[in-house]
Amino acid sequence: MSTENSKNGFSSSFGAIMAAAGSAVGLGNIWRFPYICGKYGGGAFLLVYICFVFFIGMVLMMSEFVIGRRTQSTPARAYPLLRPDKPRWRMVGLLGLATCFLILGVYLVISGWTLNYFWESLTGTLGSIDNDGFGDHFKQFASSAGRPAVSLLLFLLFTLLVIIGGVEKGIERISKLLMPILVVLLIVMCVRSLTLDGASAGVAYLFQPDFSKLTGEGVLAALGQALFSLSVGMGVMIVYGSYLPLNDNILKTSMWITVCDFFIAILAGVAIFPAVFATGQEPTGGPGLVYQVLPVVFNSFGSLGRLFSVVFFLLLSLAALTSAISLLEALTAWLNEKGMKRAVAAVLVSLCVSVVAVAASFSFGVWGSVKLGSLTIFDLLDKLTGTYLPPICAFLTIVFFGWVMKKEDIMDELSNHGTVKIGYFKVFYFFLVRFVAPLSLLVVLVTGFLN
Ligand code: TRP
Repeated sequence: MSTENSKNGFSSSFGAIMAAAGSAVGLGNIWRFPYICGKYGGGAFLLVYICFVFFIGMVLMMSEFVIGRRTQSTPARAYPLLRPDKPRWRMVGLLGLATCFLILGVYLVISGWTLNYFWESLTGTLGSIDNDGFGDHFKQFASSAGRPAVSLLLFLLFTLLVIIGGVEKGIERISKLLMPILVVLLIVMCVRSLTLDGASAGVAYLFQPDFSKLTGEGVLAALGQALFSLSVGMGVMIVYGSYLPLNDNILKTSMWITVCDFFIAILAGVAIFPAVFATGQEPTGGPGLVYQVLPVVFNSFGSLGRLFSVVFFLLLSLAALTSAISLLEALTAWLNEKGMKRAVAAVLVSLCVSVVAVAASFSFGVWGSVKLGSLTIFDLLDKLTGTYLPPICAFLTIVFFGWVMKKEDIMDELSNHGTVKIGYFKVFYFFLVRFVAPLSLLVVLVTGFLN
């Protein structure tokens, strides 16, 4: 087990936090959270979501960082390194990586949409549509074949270029700059959305819990969303953990990232729901929600609307970029660890994933009738990667961490070899890791599947 500083790593704690936060904060917060929250009933969903984020998601993030930094490896090698006598745990690492591959496929589709909306804001196309037209505009765009595919391939190309640029120069630098700007912009949009006529219905929808709307499926979706949004459960944070500085305080870093990620999802909710109600739209608008609602908010900005729209979709594209980077990085690092050159690995993964992504993108139009049961290719991938696979991977990861990995290894890594005082938090932490997190994951999984 190597504990020397790896050559390939983040230069500072701040940079590492920003890069990991860049992975966490993405379309999951701004595109997925509002529509999933809307679908499962608003406030009640939110309460369950909060519990999952802090008691499961954050705990998993700490655990993945520990595994990664301890082994300086990707998930495929980390598990067997920690327990050489139990080599089968390697499968958990591989399952996580396979899940990352599928997530990246879905992710690229939405990232492509975002990039296209940036372009349309810039060229004025979006500004020339009136408020009633955004729904149709979105449907028309998503169901066409060429534009979404070209957008997603272009986006993939940008992702690939950053990955080839490397961990420190590529990933860290871009994350450090973007995250703060995105937050400021979201706050401005919240203020605007809240001051629209009729906004209060949206606030009530988001914050007033109505438990009658919360189904077993909703609870499972809340869990899936918590994991997806924090990028945990699939081993991406194991890879980023292996780049963390050795003196970084893993507990603190994970808390910061979790709080940031949660805060940004709430901001996105506050930017969107009041506007949804104020403009008489349905909160259950599905994957197109932000693309149909936010342009209305921008229109209400008057002459500044176009500028806001351009900046917002640019930042959202970049937030998506830092997340897509982490997914591609995990897969690249894995092949790299197996001996393939970094650049070759990155190109190979990109080629394979572009096939999945284009197929998923076509399911909004030309391949809309290709279905498994009632699900299109996109729906199927979205269900798998957003709801089912992450809790399974997360459950296995936390069982390994709490029950299979050696407690001394965990404490040594969490405390940076005894230099960070952990005190009584240790007891609480092990209680979460051994009981609360695995049991709740298990209960949610079983009830969700039985539903
Ligand atoms: N967390 C990102 C988002 O919210 C998506 C993401 C990036 C992700 N890396 C991941 C999800 C790894 C699961 C696993 O948009």
